[in-house]
Amino acid sequence: MSGKLWGGRFQKSAEQWVDEFGASIGFDQQLVTEDLEGSIAHVTMLGETGILSKEEVNTIKDGLEQLKVKAHNNELTFSVANEDIHLNLEKMLIDLVGPVGGKLHTGRSRNDQVATDMHLFLKKRVKEVVELIAKFQETIVEKAEANIDTLAPGYTHLQRAQPISFAHHLMTYFWMLQRDKERFNESVKRIDISPLGAGALAGTTFPIDRELSAKLMGFSNVYQNSMDAVSDRDFIVEFLSNSSLLMAHLSRFAEEIILWSSEEFKFVELDDAFSTGSSIMPQKKNPDMAELIRGKAGRVYGNLMGLLTVLKGIPLAYNKDMQEDKEGMFDTLHTIVGALKIFEGMVRTMTVSKDTLNKAVHQDFSNATELADYLATKGMPFREAHAVTGKLVFLCIQRGIYLLDLSLEDLQEASNLIEADVYDVLAPEAAVKRRHSLGGTGFDQVKIQIANAKEKLTLN
Ligand code: ARG
Repeated sequence: MSGKLWGGRFQKSAEQWVDEFGASIGFDQQLVTEDLEGSIAHVTMLGETGILSKEEVNTIKDGLEQLKVKAHNNELTFSVANEDIHLNLEKMLIDLVGPVGGKLHTGRSRNDQVATDMHLFLKKRVKEVVELIAKFQETIVEKAEANIDTLAPGYTHLQRAQPISFAHHLMTYFWMLQRDKERFNESVKRIDISPLGAGALAGTTFPIDRELSAKLMGFSNVYQNSMDAVSDRDFIVEFLSNSSLLMAHLSRFAEEIILWSSEEFKFVELDDAFSTGSSIMPQKKNPDMAELIRGKAGRVYGNLMGLLTVLKGIPLAYNKDMQEDKEGMFDTLHTIVGALKIFEGMVRTMTVSKDTLNKAVHQDFSNATELADYLATKGMPFREAHAVTGKLVFLCIQRGIYLLDLSLEDLQEASNLIEADVYDVLAPEAAVKRRHSLGGTGFDQVKIQIANAKEKLTLN
């Protein structure tokens, strides 16, 4: 006998170091609440269906409730010898209520049990993630609202392209996060399914009621195939994939904040509370939090690749490989929750240097498109207007000035279509204002965009 709950057919025990390699209790203890929740639903169902007597059910339930309190107070001591959270809790239950505790496992297996725990766990956590995303979106909207009139250079290829409202730039991240939120929300319907009662793989001979236990746990659905129920980890892959895309968005935003807070840009200043100093260079104020978030995108992608790779070759149904689904998921959850909280605070407290941004669009050629459009409106073919403007840009570069500094004579020498009204057109404010196509950066469009965003937030 090996002394294990499953030890009947064994003649000797594994050595401790072997147990340690196989154990998941070091990390799956994070499922303690869900495991107890699942067990309470299961034993209730066993009572309702007459598989266990009311008395047995009451005793077991009482024991599970006691374990819940202990878990809540951090009073449970887990052991590697009991391998995982399921066996640890079952052992504790038997120690607490006696051999009747051994009846809890009637009609179920650890395979459907662990899958149930993961579904319960993620369903709850995904909702928390969605709330955090929404909170961050609110902060973005607030920052955007305060910067509708803030002019900023818009970039392509990291070269100044066209002037924009800084709010428009910020709001881009709102929409990325909106899609993230929608993806997480939509994934809930694939998490909200109960695998409990699938047994090891084939179902069970006991007259269980899977729909009842599902309902008791708050699941809307049950898996239709017991083998699928115990071997599906798609919902975890989906969580990791949604998290990866979220991290890609956060990482892009982080990269911009890192650039913007540099001496070269100086568009924003991060609050001291979200910055760090250098141990050697006293002048430094580093955007460590943004850098870390950018870096942490890597580990989340890694977790996604890790699980996809674990799953790709395993035959049906449960295989121990699947125990490898947990650490990456816990780590991802921890990472995205931390990143979202930090990012929200970082953006809420950052100062936008409106003057620097404003100066930037007055000292560049991002109004060149305006001149080309101006000439095209006056009847010149756009291709020609583009060339004329390009020549004027070159002239300015040679003289070390900008388009607005050119005299009317200089401009008219390039094209007699140009009149004095060109100066109004070339003003960056005008360039922004005139872009009032739907979804454009025009101030009025940005206001509409923000109003629509706010409406999305109320719907969540
Ligand atoms: N600790 C295991 C896991 O996380 C639980 C399921 C074990 N099932 C089994 N047949 N060994 O996957």
